[in-house]
Amino acid sequence: MAGNRTLTMIKPDAVKDGHIGAILAHINKAGFRLVAMKMTHLTTAKAQAFYAVHKERPFYGELVEFMTSGPIVAAVLEKDNAVEDFRKLIGATNPADAAPGTIRALYAKNVGENAVHGSDSDENAAIEGAFHFGGTEMF
Ligand code: RTP
Ligand code: MG
Repeated sequence: MAGNRTLTMIKPDAVKDGHIGAILAHINKAGFRLVAMKMTHLTTAKAQAFYAVHKERPFYGELVEFMTSGPIVAAVLEKDNAVEDFRKLIGATNPADAAPGTIRALYAKNVGENAVHGSDSDENAAIEGAFHFGGTEMF
């Protein structure tokens, strides 16, 4: 059975540009319920750990630098089939390829500064939720 939670981050570009409210409204309208949320500023060590799966990729350094360039909003979202439905809602990694109306089509600047993160599997959703939130911070 598909899991019902996913982890998102509103990335530093979208926070700086004042899109937190619009993105959360978009997420709520699509039927996701917020079960945890915080504004935080990732340290280099935390950003490196969060994206450790990409550590051999050429864009890793740039990605860590970007993700620590300003505050983010991390949130756990609940909905049936949450991981897959949220990836559809945010659109392709590169906003040039993102379907019209998706969050990245609306708010992302380029393939690196792409407004939002979404977990890519139920297993990673659980790991990433626990990365950002302790037991009493999730509802
Ligand atoms: P995310 O993990 O943030 O939800 O993004 P994603 O699954 O759509 O893409 P992924 O392949 O996991 O890449 C993670 C993030 O790394 C940056 N990136 N830059 N310059 C590049 O070619 C490049 N490729 C990826 C993006 O911020 C991407 O979201
Ligand atoms: Mg990813």
